[in-house]
Amino acid sequence: MTETITDIEITAPWGERHLLGLEHLSAQQILTILNLADRFHELTEGASKKLQVLNGTVVANLFFENSTRTKTSFNIAARRLGADTVDFSASRSSLSKGETFVDTALTIEAMGVDLVVCRHRTPGAPHLLARKLKAGVLNAGDGTHEHPTQALLDMLTIRQRLGRIEGLTVALVGDIRHSRVARSNIHGLLKLGAKVIVCGPATLVPKAIAKLGVEIAYNLDEILPRVDCVNLLRVQFERQRGAFFPSIAEYAHLFGMNGERIRKGKENLLVLAPGPINRGVELTPEVADGPNSAILTQVSNGLLIRMACLYLLAKKVGKS
Ligand code: NCD
Repeated sequence: MTETITDIEITAPWGERHLLGLEHLSAQQILTILNLADRFHELTEGASKKLQVLNGTVVANLFFENSTRTKTSFNIAARRLGADTVDFSASRSSLSKGETFVDTALTIEAMGVDLVVCRHRTPGAPHLLARKLKAGVLNAGDGTHEHPTQALLDMLTIRQRLGRIEGLTVALVGDIRHSRVARSNIHGLLKLGAKVIVCGPATLVPKAIAKLGVEIAYNLDEILPRVDCVNLLRVQFERQRGAFFPSIAEYAHLFGMNGERIRKGKENLLVLAPGPINRGVELTPEVADGPNSAILTQVSNGLLIRMACLYLLAKKVGKS
């Protein structure tokens, strides 16, 4: 017999109407999301269980920047919870006729949308929507600022694979300057008690980032032996206006994860990458497809994290 689940008890603290970043969340709130994601994992493992906990909720995906993983993942997550989804594609909308970003969002909200998932190239765009809309807003990446659900799924993967986060050393490698994934990971990991090292070419690692409480390194081989997890960030060519390193080959040589570097690291070194990955640049195929890599697990965990976030916000806007 199929069991239909229509409610999930949450006893841990939450209280937010929006999910805009990890900078202003407490460690307790982050743990609430990770634990709820684990609960959704248990509940959706057997195909026999249907979750109808967000029946009647409408989730709109407003993506003003390209996305494969994040958009698809929010879509599937919402549907697994029983919500209806609507997809908005900026290039095919009335934005091309001159409508403003906020007017577009207000128009979509007026059709009865409860939660808005927003990705935009401008830092702060989801924050603006949060001030203007009654709907709950989830930041799916705002320029170089934050990408909270990516950092949450990274942390869920670390906790699953290595058993904890507190006391671990995590290296974020690559284009720190332009990476919203780096910023959200830094906030989240530090709150949960990890040590964070940011590592990359000096041109892509702003010195001021040390103020957040991270160590800065420019030599991957030097830090590797004391690292439990490396998170390989993509070089954000689309956000760069200058040449930040001499050539891609040189970048790969100094900062790319390859078989030789895996052998120099700890035995169970965990390799993460938010994707899209550039094989041969941030990591070689041997590493991407090897036993240390959890890249596809990250994608699966993304669903669980997004289910947890959508559920918590839907509760908050009074939808379930
Ligand atoms: C990241 C993003 O868009 O910020 N991708 C993702 O969401 N999985 C990272 C990237 O584009 O490099």
